[in-house]
Amino acid sequence: MPADLVGPADLVGTGLELSICADVATVTLARPERRNAMTPGMWRGLARIGNALAGAVRVVVVRGAGPSFCAGIDLRMFSAEGVPGEEANPDPADAAFDESVAGFQAGYTWLRDPSLVSIAAVQGHAIGAGFQLALACDLRVIADDAKFCMKEPALGLVPDLTGTKPLVEIVGLPRAIEMCLTARTVDAAEAAQLRLAELVVPRADLDAAVSDLVAALLSTDAGAARATKALLVQAQGNTLEQQAAAERAAQAVLLAARRGR
Ligand code: ACO
Repeated sequence: MPADLVGPADLVGTGLELSICADVATVTLARPERRNAMTPGMWRGLARIGNALAGAVRVVVVRGAGPSFCAGIDLRMFSAEGVPGEEANPDPADAAFDESVAGFQAGYTWLRDPSLVSIAAVQGHAIGAGFQLALACDLRVIADDAKFCMKEPALGLVPDLTGTKPLVEIVGLPRAIEMCLTARTVDAAEAAQLRLAELVVPRADLDAAVSDLVAALLSTDAGAARATKALLVQAQGNTLEQQAAAERAAQAVLLAARRGR
């Protein structure tokens, strides 16, 4: 059971909570008093959860406790004192810099795995690393008070938690340049217009809207859902001929499995 692989003891100090109910995992950023500001420990915890859940659940919901989804990196990371109990920001002069940041990115990349569908439930602010976490999910259901901001360039940083590719794919290159290089805030109405949200609902209805979507996602055949997501994910990089061939191959696997039942 994945819950045994990542139990509450494994997540102590990460600011994360994990609950699993049948085919659905809910990952909660649980530092509301800091607006769920993120640390290396949280990113590594997310990666551990991803490893444990691979192939074990069909849907993952990522949510934030309290008024904000996530206020981005814990800004104390940039102070001389750092965050008590946390590893320091990796030093670019260190040979392990690349490996460290890749480890943080692993906390995000698993959310795109074809074996699952990930949903970000966003209320309040999703800033920097938090915006990138919402972008790492397949779908975004947002409250009408949601506010997105790619703050990194304003702080002398680039967004390096895998957010640049989905942002460009969703809003297009010119809008992504404009949003990131001004570090401006995008409200819920504009987010819907830019296709950054699949659904915008009143704040009080966010949990119910996410539950309804989860139920709808679970209503289709599990094998077909996984194979279809795999096809959709590769569609953009394929020619029509390659995609048509991939569809035939996927259908053959599904039908063979059905005959074998
Ligand atoms: N890092 C550390 N602490 C934070 C962060 C953060 N990113 N965001 C909020 N907090 C803390 C505040 O310091 C405050 O602590 P205190 O109660 O001890 O004073 C507490 O969380 C609540 O924050 P408020 O600002 O009072 O909450 P409010 O709801 O009014 O505003 C908001 C929320 C807009 C998110 C604001 O806190 C903010 O702008 N935070 C910083 C956002 C930021 O610049 N993040 C970095 C992005 S770049 C990146 O992620 C790589």
